[in-house]
Amino acid sequence: MPATTLAPYPEAAAVEDGRLLIGGCDAVALAREVGTPAYVVAEDDLRARARDFLAALRTHHDGPGEVLFASKAFPCTAVLRVFAEEGLGCDVASGGELHLALRAGFAPERIYLHGNAKSEAELRMAVEAGVGWIVLDNADDIAKLGRVLPAGARRRVLLRVTPGVEAETHAAILTGHAASKFGFEPERAAEVARAGWDHLDVQGFHFHIGSQLFDLEPYREAVAALAPLPDMPVYSLGGGMAVPYSADDRAPGPEASVAAMAEAAREVLGDGKRLVIEPGRSLVANAGVTLYTVQSVKQRAGGPRIVAVDGGMSDNLRPMLYDAVYDVRAADRMEERGEPATVVGKHCESGDVLVREAPLPEVEAGDVLVTPVTGAYGHAMANNYNGVPRPPVVFCSAGVARVVVRRETYEELHARDV
Ligand SMILES: Cc1ncc(COP(=O)(O)O)c(C=O)c1O
Repeated sequence: MPATTLAPYPEAAAVEDGRLLIGGCDAVALAREVGTPAYVVAEDDLRARARDFLAALRTHHDGPGEVLFASKAFPCTAVLRVFAEEGLGCDVASGGELHLALRAGFAPERIYLHGNAKSEAELRMAVEAGVGWIVLDNADDIAKLGRVLPAGARRRVLLRVTPGVEAETHAAILTGHAASKFGFEPERAAEVARAGWDHLDVQGFHFHIGSQLFDLEPYREAVAALAPLPDMPVYSLGGGMAVPYSADDRAPGPEASVAAMAEAAREVLGDGKRLVIEPGRSLVANAGVTLYTVQSVKQRAGGPRIVAVDGGMSDNLRPMLYDAVYDVRAADRMEERGEPATVVGKHCESGDVLVREAPLPEVEAGDVLVTPVTGAYGHAMANNYNGVPRPPVVFCSAGVARVVVRRETYEELHARDV
């Protein structure tokens, strides 16, 4: 099967004799070797997406600009290192993400600290590390930053604005609407920018309107909401660019998304602004797949087959949180579709459903299944429900597989006991 028909699998995926290869590595052999569940990542796809975004910004924006990796999407040292090597900056939303970004080699001045509930300790950590940009979300941030800065010091900041834009996406990942918990109302942001706080060097405004946005119009609306605010040298337009979760999804992609954002910025904000974008999902989602091993198969009267695998809501919370829909295949029979089956996890609740009624060939215990597009918010949201150790992350490139995060051990489940 040529690579183009494999979407939404990684670009560096192929099918040979019905078997899935990721970065030239046989998925079933890999599952046997490293165990399952396992996150398998095509490293070349990570690098290709980073280059796509950098090229798009260079092409469509006439002025300084920066592409940041929103690290929440895949907060893993190896992934962060790839993006640092590719020349991206980094968006962090907690002390933990900041710790990871610094350790992975991002220059502190290329890091932006976000968050609607930053603690004083997190702000102090950022200040002491020399983080380049602090994105203030609320009045308490202003006060806390004042308390952690040395006397007389001034700090370069952006102000997060709530543009009041309703983008079309799941309610849980909509963030730019008027009732959002994130950011200052535009009038309030303008007041802060004009107030001349001694400890704030307000360089610009930021918004992030939501995630998995297929329509680019809300970005234009959000930029328009910044027009009445004081003119600034820096504007960060956030992330949120959609990715295809199925072969039928038509996401705009990096080029069209960045073109629309840059055009809106030029028209509304003027030429020569420093433009920052913060893709998370769209840098990592399609690069990753998850491998599972079937543990049992049931046929209920009048219902679909129920295929139970060795992972579930501990390695992919998105179906439970956002009703996210995933494709599933048998990794050694990628072209076979079969009758509808529901793929459930091993966790002790009925909501633990990874894939609802999707075509799947006859499978039995021991077979390896694959779900694509798990590079974003899979590892990030992994948890230990039912005492399940978190899965490894395996990078594959040019036929070589390399474990970059090993599987958690049972001992680590009680490693914090006092
Ligand atoms: C401030 C900010 N920037 C960027 C992102 C990345 O969003 P996405 O992964 O949808 O690109 C998020 C996601 O929550 C965010 O909160």
